[in-house]
Amino acid sequence: MKIDGIAYRSVWLNADDRWSVHILDQTKLPWSLEVLRLTTRDEAAHAIKSMQTRGAPLIGAVAAYGLCLALRADASTEAMERDAELINATRPTAVNLRWALDRMLTRLRNTPVSERVAVAYAEAALIADEDVAQNQAIGQFGLPLIEAAVRPGHRVNVLTHCNAGWLATVDWGTALSPIYTAFNAGIDLHVWVDETRPRNQGAALTTWELGKHGVPHTVVADNAGGHFMQHGMVDLVIVGTDRVSRTGDAANKIGTYLKALAAHDNNVPFWVATPSTTIDWELSDGVADIPIEERSAAEVTDMTGRLPDGTIATMRVVAADSPAANPAFDVTPARLVTGLITERGRCSASADGLLGLFPERR
Ligand code: MRU
Repeated sequence: MKIDGIAYRSVWLNADDRWSVHILDQTKLPWSLEVLRLTTRDEAAHAIKSMQTRGAPLIGAVAAYGLCLALRADASTEAMERDAELINATRPTAVNLRWALDRMLTRLRNTPVSERVAVAYAEAALIADEDVAQNQAIGQFGLPLIEAAVRPGHRVNVLTHCNAGWLATVDWGTALSPIYTAFNAGIDLHVWVDETRPRNQGAALTTWELGKHGVPHTVVADNAGGHFMQHGMVDLVIVGTDRVSRTGDAANKIGTYLKALAAHDNNVPFWVATPSTTIDWELSDGVADIPIEERSAAEVTDMTGRLPDGTIATMRVVAADSPAANPAFDVTPARLVTGLITERGRCSASADGLLGLFPERR
């Protein structure tokens, strides 16, 4: 996607040395666009853990490149297995992290130590390129859902939660890919963007990337979606996901479940966009078994923003002694999901639906 006319991906190799890894520092958005250069395993792991880079597909790709950086330091089998585990431990919910590292290890275990670094970079590049192609396909398969809401004199309203745009993937995004595809096709649409407390991925990131692309949007408090749905102001909801069970339960940023409940009560279609890399085929009961990341209470008690003089400041918004809990994700049960949008097409949120599109998983 483009930022001020310049094409970017969310992770890329340094054009001069061809080994160090660049990401956009997402903790600095929307206030400033800063490119980070990662040169070691620990820098890559820190970038994922601190959410300088984030979003399920993107952390998979960055983890793959993180393993490349680790192998440059030590390509022995013992170090490789240890470093993959260390990177995997950074964030528990998005299954793309485990998926990408497993794919790298499967490729590398049978590769001679002397060739591992080159093979690893090639595999990481494939992971990144495939993510772009999958997300672009999700855009095509999601487009008819938006087209179906087109009526003369009506602007299609889509609600989304968190950031499942190109900043959360290598390019295009998952939930936002159908939106970009529809917008590029000339459909008159508007996006309700949930602010997505506590880290404000909607307010800070989704608004920023939609704005850079010229897509009309309005940020709303997380609690506003139900009201808009009751008043016919949401045609459909599209969200991303961090892990989908084989039965169609979908984990996503905390608060997604409440939007699904409101959508269900108001007969608003609720779609989950997921590349196959986000499907956990091993797991049947998403509500019971998807691990939910618990993050720092400070993300809830404090907020960061820009002061009128331009400085970025963090301040406490909760009474001094009150504790805070911060589960970062929740799971929307399949019964509340209208359907899944994958790179192979749309399906019901069910084992039958998913296996129909991915018969090799039977
Ligand atoms: O904690 P984050 O910001 O990594 O969570 C991101 C989300 O929940 C996204 O909606 C999800 O990863 C889908 S990304 C295409």
